[in-house]
Amino acid sequence: MTKWSPNSWRAKPIQQVPAYPDLAALKETEARLASFPPLVFAGEARKLKKQLAAVANGEAFLLQGGDCAESFAEHGADNIRDFFRVFLQMAVVLTFAGSQPVVKIGRVAGQFAKPRSSDNETKGELTLPSYRGDIINGIEFDEKSRVPDPARQEMAYRQSAATLNLLRAFAQGGYASLENVHRWMLGFVADSPQAEKYEALANRITETMDFMRAVGITSETNFALRETDFYTSHEALLLGYEEALTRVDSTSGDWYATSGHMIWIGDRTRQPDHAHIEYCRGIKNPLGLKCGPSLTPDGLLELIDLLNPENEPGRLTLIARFGADKAVDHLPKLVRAVKNAGRSVVWSCDPMHGNTITAAGYKTRPFERILKEVQTFFEVHQAEGTHAGGIHIEMTGKNVTECTGGARAIMAEDLQNRYHTHCDPRLNADQSIELAFLVSELLKKSHVRQPHTQAAE
Ligand code: PEP
Ligand code: CO
Repeated sequence: MTKWSPNSWRAKPIQQVPAYPDLAALKETEARLASFPPLVFAGEARKLKKQLAAVANGEAFLLQGGDCAESFAEHGADNIRDFFRVFLQMAVVLTFAGSQPVVKIGRVAGQFAKPRSSDNETKGELTLPSYRGDIINGIEFDEKSRVPDPARQEMAYRQSAATLNLLRAFAQGGYASLENVHRWMLGFVADSPQAEKYEALANRITETMDFMRAVGITSETNFALRETDFYTSHEALLLGYEEALTRVDSTSGDWYATSGHMIWIGDRTRQPDHAHIEYCRGIKNPLGLKCGPSLTPDGLLELIDLLNPENEPGRLTLIARFGADKAVDHLPKLVRAVKNAGRSVVWSCDPMHGNTITAAGYKTRPFERILKEVQTFFEVHQAEGTHAGGIHIEMTGKNVTECTGGARAIMAEDLQNRYHTHCDPRLNADQSIELAFLVSELLKKSHVRQPHTQAAE
């Protein structure tokens, strides 16, 4: 294999590249970014890898979620807090059900670049370059906005830094303390179908905490009750940006992507001899790989050899995204091939990207399709004797109307009310927590332990 360097991807074929008209300006931006401080540290990425190794070993569950695409327009403290609160609520539901640690990774603080199925978008008579995410061009449908502008990369970097700063404060500054499990309720809209269920769970947690306090375990004495580890992730699509933030870790001498703790490779850019795989193979962060219907078992094993040649647990998360009906045909073959080859991976389920349809003129995802894919994911792992390791979802803390269904039964004609996404439709706060409760049932079922047998006397 040829020698890797942060820019060795530049010699490979590449998909999904924006056509920057001013290459000199792009080069200048990349040089400036290369001089900026890293957003995350190598030690944090290593810690996450350790936690993901526990998932790979069947001892923890992964919750990964956030916007399809972060936007410059929606950059505010309320948005970040609302997202984080719903995320914490989901995590607490899953932790309680599974009696296992939940590894928490946001699609956040860097999730700005989007792969598109077409280079152009046409409305009426006008054809313009597709929107590729705020880090590249603007979503407004006019000629000027759609021109890729390198200055947006610096905006994205600074927004990521600010978002990460607030998330770190929330995760470690007391907001995420389990003693606040009731306070996170404040985010529920009054008539939320999930509120009662959540409150019952919060009561049980508070009762447990009261008991622990009585025996001397309090949030003052135990930081695990007071703080949580929260990590960031995004699709490593815009490789010039990633390269600029790739740094050598002084303790290990290894290269790390410092744009986020975990990065993943999209379903459209996972060609083994192309640029995105080349870049990712050389950095030591935990990696995600989207696995869609065109991926064969042999193709997957080839990619695993490239991305995790040393079979390091926690290094590679396979994110299955087949669609509710296709999963049952595609997933078992891949799970079996990986298992038979003795490769250690985290299996996670993205029930969003294979279930997108159009209704009333909007891209949407029916909640029941999302749930069906998750159910199939659990059934397949149960049948194959492997660990259903996690879920990967597009969600927001806001009360949007982007996915149909759920307990509140959003209909196609409701989509127009609060359709705010910059790319794909997200679960709203209620739907996210509803999904967490449904997954918690699946987790409980998959964790039914054999009754203890009495030792022979
Ligand atoms: C995404 O996660 O937003 C995405 C584009 O996914 P995929 O690569 O699986 O289509
Ligand atoms: Co998406």
